[in-house]
Amino acid sequence: MGKALEGVRVLDMTHVQSGPSCTQILAWLGADVVKIEAPGGDITRKQLRDLPDVDSLYFTMLNCNKRSITLNMKSERGKELFTEMVGQFDILAENFGPGAVDRMGFSWETLQEINPRLIYASIKGFGDGPYTHFKAYEVVAQAMGGSMTTTGFEDGPPLATGSQIGDSGTGMHAVAGILAALYQREHTGRGQRVTVAMQHAVLNLCRVKLRDQQRLTHGPLNEYPNREFGDAVPRSGNASGGGQPGWAVKCAPGGPNDYIYVIVQPVGWEPITKLIGRPELADDPEWSTPAARLSKLDKMFQMIEDWTSEHGKWDVLAKLNAHNIPCGPILSTKEIIEDTSLAENEIVVKVDHPERGEFTTVGMPIKLSDSAADIQRSPLLGEHNQEIYGHELGVPDNELAELKANGVI
Ligand code: COA
Repeated sequence: MGKALEGVRVLDMTHVQSGPSCTQILAWLGADVVKIEAPGGDITRKQLRDLPDVDSLYFTMLNCNKRSITLNMKSERGKELFTEMVGQFDILAENFGPGAVDRMGFSWETLQEINPRLIYASIKGFGDGPYTHFKAYEVVAQAMGGSMTTTGFEDGPPLATGSQIGDSGTGMHAVAGILAALYQREHTGRGQRVTVAMQHAVLNLCRVKLRDQQRLTHGPLNEYPNREFGDAVPRSGNASGGGQPGWAVKCAPGGPNDYIYVIVQPVGWEPITKLIGRPELADDPEWSTPAARLSKLDKMFQMIEDWTSEHGKWDVLAKLNAHNIPCGPILSTKEIIEDTSLAENEIVVKVDHPERGEFTTVGMPIKLSDSAADIQRSPLLGEHNQEIYGHELGVPDNELAELKANGVI
């Protein structure tokens, strides 16, 4: 069976997380992704190592299905080899600090001259303006994209979320841009520039909070648990952010992840009243409608918690789902990595690695019926130098040895 992006070639100059998360998806869609690393390697190969002298999980979980070559972009021969490759590839992707590729001698104009069909994708922290030249990491984007200000409880500090919305979230936006550019090239014959700023991607994911910012100018946000409102959207703890109220309530036996998130749709109220042992509230005008409950959501969830705290979260999940009540137990990372249904869905996947042995990674979240992803291990540093420089670019063996000795590859 062929793959969706079979024949598409990606020159992958990405590092750390945002860029590699993008090119890994392209690889899983079937593109030939060749990762170019400085001879010292992507910094994440050595970061947060759990085993000595072995590529870290940070690296191996973001660079599956790629080939790796080393290349010193600051050497003359390195620039020549790069120029040759740019002519042969469809996509160049990078997420260096602002201006780094230009400083290597490759502006967008230069790249277009080398290959007018090239799609050149960059991830940066920010768009044009006062922050353009600033570097960015995950939580910087969360801080400036609307996430931190709206995450946490009203009486506590802003919080970072565990989801890597700034890094991998931006990477997924870049995938969309690259695929659209590939499609447009079918009609125009031309490549184009694709840029995604981490601040913009986080803001896109925080869209509903800008909805609420505008609603706030017309009065308090009644569905929020907060009692007082200033001139900006407050942190609202575990409030759902949607039109239906929700909250994380405690379950037995009271461990750090013994919670379940429960959403009370209008239709769910009656079965909930029975489950929690308060059937009289189903028809009580003080409680029977969403409008009546709105001003006392805290009391409503307290009553629900009085019931859930007597039961385990899996038991509560079954009981609520028997009545079609949307809910989700808080799954710990241990529960997730051991979850058989996630393994069966190939979203938690085991991969063999020549140096670290078997490791677990997160597989392809996008399922295509005609292009199933086949998750393969990440490459060792420079593992494909011979294959790409020798076989594909025709660099003779003696020159390859010389390039290695001189630190060009
Ligand atoms: N050969 C030679 N030099 C290379 C090279 C290669 N193959 N690959 C990279 N380099 C050099 C670059 O030329 C650059 O050098 P210069 O600054 O002298 O021009 C340097 O390595 C990379 O710089 P930079 O990307 O700024 O690295 P950093 O470690 O200082 O900063 C980030 C890291 C992540 C903060 C920065 O890359 C960044 O802001 N990226 C954009 C946003 C982003 O993706 N953030 C991280 C999300 S996980």
